[in-house]
Amino acid sequence: MSTFQPVRGMRDLIAEDAETLSYVIGKARETAQLFGFKEVITPVVEPFELLSAKSGEEIRQRMFIFDDLGGRKVSLRPEFTASIARLTTTTLKNEPKPLRLFSAGSVYRYDEPQKGRYREFWQANFELMGSGRPEADAEVILLANNLLKNTGLKNFALKLGHVGVLKGIMTQEGIDDKAQNAILQKMDKKEYETALALVDSENCRKILRGLIELKGANVFDTVDKMKTQVQGYEKAVAAVENLEAILRLVTESGCEIEVVDPAFARGLEYYTGVIFELYVPQLEIALGGGGRYDKLIEVFGGESTPAVGMATGIDRIALAMQAQKTRLQKPTQKRVTVIPIKEEQKAEALKIAQMLREAGLPAEFEVMGRKMGKALEDADKRKVDYAVIVGERELKEGKVVLKDLVGRTQAEVNIETLPSKIRENGC
Ligand code: HAM
Repeated sequence: MSTFQPVRGMRDLIAEDAETLSYVIGKARETAQLFGFKEVITPVVEPFELLSAKSGEEIRQRMFIFDDLGGRKVSLRPEFTASIARLTTTTLKNEPKPLRLFSAGSVYRYDEPQKGRYREFWQANFELMGSGRPEADAEVILLANNLLKNTGLKNFALKLGHVGVLKGIMTQEGIDDKAQNAILQKMDKKEYETALALVDSENCRKILRGLIELKGANVFDTVDKMKTQVQGYEKAVAAVENLEAILRLVTESGCEIEVVDPAFARGLEYYTGVIFELYVPQLEIALGGGGRYDKLIEVFGGESTPAVGMATGIDRIALAMQAQKTRLQKPTQKRVTVIPIKEEQKAEALKIAQMLREAGLPAEFEVMGRKMGKALEDADKRKVDYAVIVGERELKEGKVVLKDLVGRTQAEVNIETLPSKIRENGC
């Protein structure tokens, strides 16, 4: 039988790749705690109807869908937001607001595999439910900024926009929701001419083109020009004012926003307000994105609840860290291997390995039954720091041989003092 490979778009992560992924998840979890977000774990498989309700055509077409053995149409989650909204309308329905919820896990989209784009990937997801105020938007944007900073990434940039501006204009021009979504999907892909071709009204096309082509000297200048551009479109004016209020809060609290894009749209259909994405110069694709979605919870039968959230692509952050050669800030741990010289010392050696672990030192046991020379050679190759050699003669005196595999020294050491000797680099 031939050997198996992972399914296209899915990966085995090993060594540094696995380590970096877990590291980034750890940083996301730390950031969640710093901002008061509580972790929740939801299923990977959800009803297809839930996941497709408001996600939009783009995601709907890329979902892994199947019938389970009970005949239910289900799907692998392509994101977390729908699951968290479901949770908010059911189990957490009576919890006081705001709710701050964090999740991390794998998500699945049938995307065309390429660098930074996979069919199974990982997200760290944050949702803040219950506040429609600009400070809630600012809080989520600041969280995104903090998270990237905490991973050690440099020169990352935040791009901001507001779907309320484009939607406000199109609604006033009588374009229905379905057509609006189709136009926004094209704008998200920067296919502006195709997007404009879907707009019947000449006047509306003109206003939208103006927004697409609008350039400002800085972000506040861009916002001022947007205001002029959308004059007469009440909802769009309110949206620009809301964008400005959020922008002020974020920048005045010390987080820089590099770009305000008046024609910015995102692939997901549920957004109603501010939207944003995170980038680094080394990658063209976004490391994360999010925005305000005030109508989703009521679509799932809950009370009308304003909400804002974002997700970072863990794999892409890991890629960016590799591109920037970011070092993982981890306490250096000494690695130890424990080798019994003979069969008779096995049990005692296992006990010593256990004692080291209880003292917080990572200890591996020689499980291959190799002779000491071979076991040491292998430890050397795997860059283990110390070998603890358990022999009959030393054991009788309550001792073992501690061998420093880096410094090439060795000494007989009392078993009780072994952890402190290893910590103090002592032999
Ligand atoms: P999204 O922009 O679809 O938003 O995904 C968030 C992040 O997931 C992206 O910025 C990217 O880093 C990563 N990502 C997306 N597709 C792939 C892929 N095929 N391979 C690797 N990474 C990928 C959401 O998912 C929303 N649920 C965010 C949100 C939460 N909005 C409000 N609350």
